[in-house]
Amino acid sequence: MSGIPHDHYEPKTRFEKWLHQRLPIVGLIYDTIMIPTPKNLNWMWIWGIVLAFCLVLQIVTGIILAMHYTPHVDLAFASVEHIMRDVNAGHMLRYIHANGASLFFLAVYIHIFRGLYYGSYKSPREVTWIIGMLIYLAMMATAFMGYVLPWGQMSFWGATVITGLFGAIPFIGESLQTWLLGGPAVDNATLNRFFSLHYLLPFIIAALVAVHIWAFHTTGNSNPTGVEVRRGSKEEAEKDTLPFWPYFVIKDLFALAVVLLLFFAVVGFMPNFLGEPDNYIEANPLMTPAHIVPEWYFLPFYAILRAFTADVWVVQIASFLTGGIVDAKFFGVIAMFGAIIVMALVPWLDTSSVRSGRYRPMFKWWFAFLVVDFIVLMWAGSQKPSDVMGWISLIAAAYWFAYFLVVLPLLGLIEKPLPTPKTIEEDFNAHYGDAHNAPAE
Ligand code: HEM
Repeated sequence: MSGIPHDHYEPKTRFEKWLHQRLPIVGLIYDTIMIPTPKNLNWMWIWGIVLAFCLVLQIVTGIILAMHYTPHVDLAFASVEHIMRDVNAGHMLRYIHANGASLFFLAVYIHIFRGLYYGSYKSPREVTWIIGMLIYLAMMATAFMGYVLPWGQMSFWGATVITGLFGAIPFIGESLQTWLLGGPAVDNATLNRFFSLHYLLPFIIAALVAVHIWAFHTTGNSNPTGVEVRRGSKEEAEKDTLPFWPYFVIKDLFALAVVLLLFFAVVGFMPNFLGEPDNYIEANPLMTPAHIVPEWYFLPFYAILRAFTADVWVVQIASFLTGGIVDAKFFGVIAMFGAIIVMALVPWLDTSSVRSGRYRPMFKWWFAFLVVDFIVLMWAGSQKPSDVMGWISLIAAAYWFAYFLVVLPLLGLIEKPLPTPKTIEEDFNAHYGDAHNAPAE
């Protein structure tokens, strides 16, 4: 694919020319921040920058926390209390890091649903999407392991339940679980390796983010119309785009400031709002908490995991066909990972020729149901198991799969899309007026 035509960096001074011939790093930075960006991007395109900020925030606060934290079962809980009480600004650092994880997931969910609505995943941006999904999986692993580190009751029991899921895999499950934990149960070896990996993974995420950005800089950003930037000539491309610096940098920084205002209100005034009181009790392997719940961002997938009990007919059929190898627990694990896999495969499941949901009258409804479905799953995941909750989770889980595997492939064939604008310029002018050709005041 040919890139969007635009001005490239030209070294001017003798030093610039000297450096450019040896290491064209200034050119790389220039081309990155001056990238032509569709000028009709709306506020849903700010979340990538919020995510990048979250990653840096988590790494910086995490590194300082690690200076005072001790990854040992006898000391971990006390070392976190020491951070909260004795370390200068330690309570603030910890609260920023803990709530920063929530902001990170809030931003990633909005970013993902933005992509799902505007069809950002469609050709030629499949690789951006897949790398995004890998980032999301790495984020989940990082958050899960981070939650174990304070060594509270929920840390311990959450880790026990989730690593127990690997034990459900037929034949190799038990050995796999022992290998992951470093022993027969969650213990010191587990805490040590989770600390090591929790420190490592954010840097892997950072590398994946670099590739993610590289990928969408290669194809160019999509935009709310889904219509591509004209690439015939530089003049045409310039009518559809503006350089990222200064236009989008200022817009993104403004949005980030608003988001951070709300974030710091939570950190300052209600830092434990999203936390679990049980995690202020030190881990006790002999006392199971009454109700083990994961953090809010895992709840939708936790609900899918729990939805498939032994009395669900698909589970019974799977169990019958496999001679009992696939039991309810293993089926739940497959469903939970399957829910993410179907989302990763969306570029190949959506058959519509129109990219943006804005011009897809039927799609809009199904998409709105998907958003509601996600919220229902999140709520169901937080509730105590019961018959009613089982049904709600099952229906919501079924819709999640149906949306990706049935609705999207079929909609593309039967839906009659609305006409899309011919160019990004046309859409921009319809919203903001034709600034280029406006008469001088
Ligand atoms: C650490 C996590 C992530 C960071 C820092 C990040 C960063 C960014 C940035 C800066 C952009 C461009 C601006 C924007 O569209 O908001 C972007 C675009 C995009 N991201 Fe992410 N992203 C992350 C995770 C994800 C995830 C989990 C997905 C979903 C699978 C995803 C899918 C996409 C897609 C499809 C685009 C292209 C949108 C377009 O071209 O209009 N990203 N990302």
